[in-house]
Amino acid sequence: MNLFDAIHSRRTIKQFTDQPVSDDLLHQALDAGRWAQNHRMTEPWRFLILGPQTHRAIAVINGDALLEKTRADAEVLAKMRTDAEAKILSKPRVVAVTCCLCGNKAVEQEDYAAVSCAVQNIQLAAWGLGLGMQWTTSGFTTRPDTYALLGVDPAQEMITGLLYFGFPANVPAPKLRKPLAEVSRMLP
Ligand SMILES: Cc1cc2nc3c(=O)[nH]c(=O)nc-3n(C[C@H](O)[C@H](O)[C@H](O)COP(=O)(O)O)c2cc1C
Repeated sequence: MNLFDAIHSRRTIKQFTDQPVSDDLLHQALDAGRWAQNHRMTEPWRFLILGPQTHRAIAVINGDALLEKTRADAEVLAKMRTDAEAKILSKPRVVAVTCCLCGNKAVEQEDYAAVSCAVQNIQLAAWGLGLGMQWTTSGFTTRPDTYALLGVDPAQEMITGLLYFGFPANVPAPKLRKPLAEVSRMLP
């Protein structure tokens, strides 16, 4: 795929087919993340590839997070929990991405930028392999129980979100972007 075609056609994919995603394909996409630009070569990204047990457990956390902020009768809550868990379980593969914390705020800001570049590389590489991906920063991804489940020490690493991977069930239309003239200006 031509580089500009990949940049323009890449979409965030939220609905996936049941086709499994092999470790090998997932590793190929994640490996592109290691090649992101990175000031000071801190290589701050960490990729936590969830197995079935952790996938199920994080689906339960999504249900917990939803129910904690909802008031309804028991039957409605039970249905909401089932749906919240099913939503996460419908993602064929889940990868948590963390950013190492060094204690220096300026470097941590650059490191978060580098992790974001890594995620973009990963999404584009996945796209080139025929895989769709969504980056989510939904509230449940950074709860204390998520840190505990993933074995991430919040003093050492920040969870930047989850990546969902799978073969696209449908590709949404692109969301309109402002023209370049509106978001740029020439300086003398
Ligand atoms: C840091 C970050 C967090 C995101 N979190 C979410 C999310 O929680 N839920 C979601 O539906 N999309 C999320 N997205 C994806 C955006 O919604 C998506 O990129 C945007 O709608 C443009 O669509 P496109 O990626 O298909 O061009 C996130 C994107 C970024 C960069």
